[in-house]
Amino acid sequence: MKTNLQKLADVHGTPLFIIDHDTIRKNYRLFKKQLPRVQAYFAVKANSNQEIIKTLFDEGASFDVASYNEFMQVYAYIRHFDPRTKDFYIWDKIIFSNTIKDRQTLQKIKKFRPLVTYDNRDELQKIRQHCASAGLVLRLKVPDTGSQVEMSSKFGIEPGDALSLIKQSFDAGLVVEGLSFHVGSQCTNFDNYTAALEIAAAIFNDARKLGYPLKIVDIGGGFPVAYDADVPKLEKLARIINGECSRLFPADVELIAEPGRFMVANAATLVSEIIGKAKRDGKIFYHINDGVYHTFSGVVYDHWIPNFHSFKKSKPEICAVVGPTCDSFDKISLAEELPGDLKIGDYLYTLNIGAYSIASSTKFNGFDGAKVLHLNKM
Ligand SMILES: Cc1ncc(COP(=O)(O)O)c(C=O)c1O
Repeated sequence: MKTNLQKLADVHGTPLFIIDHDTIRKNYRLFKKQLPRVQAYFAVKANSNQEIIKTLFDEGASFDVASYNEFMQVYAYIRHFDPRTKDFYIWDKIIFSNTIKDRQTLQKIKKFRPLVTYDNRDELQKIRQHCASAGLVLRLKVPDTGSQVEMSSKFGIEPGDALSLIKQSFDAGLVVEGLSFHVGSQCTNFDNYTAALEIAAAIFNDARKLGYPLKIVDIGGGFPVAYDADVPKLEKLARIINGECSRLFPADVELIAEPGRFMVANAATLVSEIIGKAKRDGKIFYHINDGVYHTFSGVVYDHWIPNFHSFKKSKPEICAVVGPTCDSFDKISLAEELPGDLKIGDYLYTLNIGAYSIASSTKFNGFDGAKVLHLNKM
């Protein structure tokens, strides 16, 4: 693999973001196999590259979109469907999972009869006014203890207030289709899932008892990626989710999930290049041609711990790896074990960089960011 990466970088230049579509297909199939009752909506935000959407579309995935633009990225593949099939696809396979949508977005998506999440009364009023055709999924606040990225401080209704909002929603003439939650991204503490499922089940069953015909439970994202050997496997989480779901929810309940990171993180590798080398306070600083304003944006937004590997092997020392911009904030890592004798023009490579990386890359300082190369596209 290593020689191949070097060759690709020689041919295509760096920084080079290499996406392996075979890995994406494998991830999707593994998810489906382990969680057979769960319909998988790929969270486009994790990596909105159009070719990734195409690969997952061809696999039969559903999609979680955060904005009108993401919706249109998926829509590109169903545009030619006949109206009935298209309407059904949108209803069955796309969810707007952003709990807050601006009025203009709601007006634009109204004609599609979308499934949308919400978590408060003002959003309900807004949806009623601007997109009354929508089906509603109420997002609950659930524990996200220990997850790499927490969610509960910004999203989700307090469980104790959920039933009352469900009642208000039906009273307002809208239909609540179900409940959703997100246990935080890269969730390795599986108690978060069991707690969230218990919370959702209590509200779901109470709502049904009151005559509100809820159908969907959306278990969100959070499915962890094996960034290191300590991360528990999907198989273990799947056993918990499958067991708890059959205990808590009748067979007619539709279970859906919004995996983002799990589908794409291990499907991309970045090859970067050393463009400068300096000794600062006795430590080697490798300046590379990608940084936290670009493909390594996840170090900031995703609390991601980067990894660097060199093709040359010699005695390692603790080095800093920093980005190409004029900003001193653009430090990717201050403690990487790398050979001290690397030279300008040498490549580094970074594994598992497919999620929340290039999706939030900017053009800061006029740098374009990484070129994307697709492998094993069908
Ligand atoms: C509403 C929602 N669903 C799904 C996801 C994807 O989560 P993950 O990448 O942890 O699977 C996110 C991530 O931010 C999200 O906000």
